[in-house]
Amino acid sequence: MTETITVDRPRERVALITLNRPKALNALNLRAMREITGAAAELDGDPEIGAIVLTGSPRAFAAGADIKEMAPRSFSDVHAADWFAGWDALSRVRKPLVAAVAGYALGGGCELAMMCDLLIAAETAKFGQPEITLGVIPGMGGSQRLTRAVGKAKAMDLCLTGRTMDAQEAERAGLVSRIVPADTLLDEALDAAATIAGMSAPATMMAKEAVNRAFETGLSDGLLFERRVFHSTFATHDQKEGMAAFTEKREPRFRHA
Ligand code: CAA
Repeated sequence: MTETITVDRPRERVALITLNRPKALNALNLRAMREITGAAAELDGDPEIGAIVLTGSPRAFAAGADIKEMAPRSFSDVHAADWFAGWDALSRVRKPLVAAVAGYALGGGCELAMMCDLLIAAETAKFGQPEITLGVIPGMGGSQRLTRAVGKAKAMDLCLTGRTMDAQEAERAGLVSRIVPADTLLDEALDAAATIAGMSAPATMMAKEAVNRAFETGLSDGLLFERRVFHSTFATHDQKEGMAAFTEKREPRFRHA
């Protein structure tokens, strides 16, 4: 029984994880971390699911890690527990994750959105790393993923001043994949997830792995990795089917395996 999230299957092969702590603007406590990463891992292993959407509420995707839970902790508490290390489990999810972000995505909320593969933002979305205003720094990847996504200039600005950026600025900076009207956000995110889930499952996992490799390695290693993975797609049923369908001018029937 989950307390901080709900999990649904609103479309064929698409799962939806909704953060559900509205009174705390979906602040991410330890329980939320365990429930989100646990649900994502379970869905990752489910052959009936091809993509996962993660969303919050119209007011807040998530307003950060739970400040009230963190406030009384000492250095040895957070060091011994390796506070936030549990979020790494989300990076191990191999199926595409789509973040549907409306309202505040601050601190851990921004970092959680950045752990996803596609970030679809409502016009109302506000992104920021305001940890500095609390006397701390980002701890769920903000200083690293934000810098890789938007570059040093903007990452420094957000991490040092704590200011927020709106959806337009975030899209211009390269953080956001698409901006959509707030009232269609969930539909657009579910549509994108359904499109992805309709593709070859091995190919989507390989594409995700290849794009992510660009963040981890140099260009020549990345190009070699991409080429070898590309070669390996020729061992799948879906490569035969996808290319045959193109030649025969019909829709492909991927087996997703
Ligand atoms: N943790 C715990 N509770 C939070 C929270 C958070 N991150 N953000 C909001 N809440 C709670 C508020 O305490 C309040 O609860 P009460 O009614 O019980 O007081 C409720 O949510 C509503 O919040 P506000 O009354 O503050 O709403 P607002 O509309 O006036 O302001 C806001 C909205 C600007 C987002 C403001 O809530 C805010 O600044 N929140 C904190 C943002 C922040 O600093 N996030 C970073 C956290 S640290 C972090 O994330 C570390 C990391 O790297 C992982």
